[in-house]
Amino acid sequence: MATRLIKSSAPGKIILFGEHAVVYERAAIAVPVTQVRATATVEPAPAGSGLTLVASDLDRSVRLAVAPEGDPLAVAARLALAHLSAPEPDGVLTINSTIPIASGMGSGAAVSTALVRGLAGFLGHALRPAEVSEIVFEVEKIHHGTPSGIDNTVVAYEQPVYFVRGRPVEQLAVGQPFTLLIADTGTPSPTGKIVAQVRWARQREPARYDALFDQIGDIADEARRAIESGDVDALGPLMDDNHELLIELGVSSPRLDDLVEAARFAGAMGAKLSGAGQGGNTIALVEDYLAEEVAEELRETGAVEVIRTNVR
Ligand code: PMV
Repeated sequence: MATRLIKSSAPGKIILFGEHAVVYERAAIAVPVTQVRATATVEPAPAGSGLTLVASDLDRSVRLAVAPEGDPLAVAARLALAHLSAPEPDGVLTINSTIPIASGMGSGAAVSTALVRGLAGFLGHALRPAEVSEIVFEVEKIHHGTPSGIDNTVVAYEQPVYFVRGRPVEQLAVGQPFTLLIADTGTPSPTGKIVAQVRWARQREPARYDALFDQIGDIADEARRAIESGDVDALGPLMDDNHELLIELGVSSPRLDDLVEAARFAGAMGAKLSGAGQGGNTIALVEDYLAEEVAEELRETGAVEVIRTNVR
């Protein structure tokens, strides 16, 4: 029996370019956000007690043996045990997270990643990022229906990634670090529902939607070149263009547009919504000397939280 206490964690994430189009095999770029994290702590429990999963932020605790079929924590734990061909251990696995829920910051993927790594560590295994990502992708399907796989990838690798569905993940080398402000509308962004809305809209107007996806994919490719070559100045206009295309896809909202406008007004080099949209977060690219001013403008425009992160 394991006797050690194991701790593991996983970061939040933000999509820089390519959300929605990435579901349709276009390129996207996402980066980890290490200022917010999900943490799993696993402690030994008396022999025969099995595994108990505790979501301490939600004040919820469930024994794996009797957890409902679709419970996301139980699904992640069962998939991890199956992957390791390991029997259920005796332990208590506690999850904490500082990542805002349903805001496009990858909270679900980070919780699953921390859980899978923690459980593996408790059983004496170290999983590779690709293995963790694959398990978490299965859990994401329960949350989102038809996820592209970008969330589990960026969170499990904890590196900036260039992602095309169905292709091996490519890690991005950032030529010149840059600063982003992530501003939360405070309105939830139900990813599965919005992805389904886009699917229906595309069924009605396939040519129009595919053309928009193509343009978004081209922007992600250009952004990749700019990020790798350290051409930060090129990124702002690409974010602005990507936001316009997301408006055309029908996934923005007045609150998101207001925050994007406010960031630009206060001097951001570019801004867009990030993630599924309709609520959730915007991101703004800022020069460091202006970051506090832009953050203040975002708060005055109604952002419930502004997180500053440096992409490197
Ligand atoms: O989980 P979110 O809100 O960051 O959205 C994921 C991004 C989408 O492209 C909208 C969906 C997907 O699975 O890639």
